[in-house]
Amino acid sequence: MRLLSIDSVKENMQIARNIYAADGNVLLGEGMALTRGYIERLKDLGISSVYIVDHLTGDIEVDELVTIQTRIDATKAVKETMNGIRKGLGLDGDKVCKSVDKLMDELVANRNIIYNLVDIRAMNDYNFGHSIAVCILSLLAGIFAGFGYRKLKELGVGAILHDIGKVFISEKILNKKDKLSPEEYQEIQKHTILGYEFLRKNNQISAVSAHVAWQHHEHFDGSGYPRGLKGNEIHEFARIVAVADVFDALSTDRIYRKRFFPHEVVEYIRDKGKELFDPDFTRILLERIAPFPIGATVLLNTGEKAVVMKVTKDMPSRPLVKVIIDKDGVINQQPVDLDLKKDLTKYIIEELKDEESVTGL
Ligand SMILES: [Fe+2]
Repeated sequence: MRLLSIDSVKENMQIARNIYAADGNVLLGEGMALTRGYIERLKDLGISSVYIVDHLTGDIEVDELVTIQTRIDATKAVKETMNGIRKGLGLDGDKVCKSVDKLMDELVANRNIIYNLVDIRAMNDYNFGHSIAVCILSLLAGIFAGFGYRKLKELGVGAILHDIGKVFISEKILNKKDKLSPEEYQEIQKHTILGYEFLRKNNQISAVSAHVAWQHHEHFDGSGYPRGLKGNEIHEFARIVAVADVFDALSTDRIYRKRFFPHEVVEYIRDKGKELFDPDFTRILLERIAPFPIGATVLLNTGEKAVVMKVTKDMPSRPLVKVIIDKDGVINQQPVDLDLKKDLTKYIIEELKDEESVTGL
């Protein structure tokens, strides 16, 4: 099984794992062959990568941080919540809290599993998938920061609703492909205040959860909005959600740009994020993320090409891989396992893009 970007897949390749729509229906089932029409549809739905059957690597088990059913339920809850608010029905806080509870339970139980980007990404359209991904990432940071049940719950609710204010912003501006005018940008920035004002009126949502909506675009160095708060002036939940938000946004295809690979996002956040994000929460979160997700095709420093088979929490950047192409570019018909944790002379340089990632398929 191999993980390919949607731009690299070709007709007749076979799907290795079900692909789900935001409503939980199976869009394409395991074993189905891709057609041009399917590929276009997946692109339209914003699905950025899919698992493809690959005889060189065989089947790979992907440990799930959160079960598919829980993700589907949470996605549905967010979708219904947002649509309800648009229709003037108000917010069903109970429904949202129940989804967060379920996500928390599973994340706590699966705390030894590393966040594998595709767990979440290959199933949703952007807005709803984004809320769930940000919630999962934020909860992961909270769990490993040692938060207790009550704090985790408030963090999770704030995270899942962080962008709720966007329901009050015109979709025309939100979905604009071209560069935003200064006025439009100002308009979008209002989602923070609008979200906060909306949430604080709801007595099922705690004040600190509402603050996440208000403060998640504040930067640690004071360069963010809406108030330009700095360091610890920003509530710790919002400092966590700020990193999770950027991590997920950069990892996803958007109308105006292509996604970045996880290792590129990790590097960006480590480097650029020094000023923007809380250093402690950033470190805690990045330690839980697989820079090279399971199924990714990667280039090693030896020139060999390999597929990531297993990622472990002690050294996420040194996974177990299967070498499928040797250093001379010859396909290994019987690929060999290589544990990068044991062979320290070898390391991954990058995840391969496009044409390069389908070699040997
Ligand atoms: Fe936002």
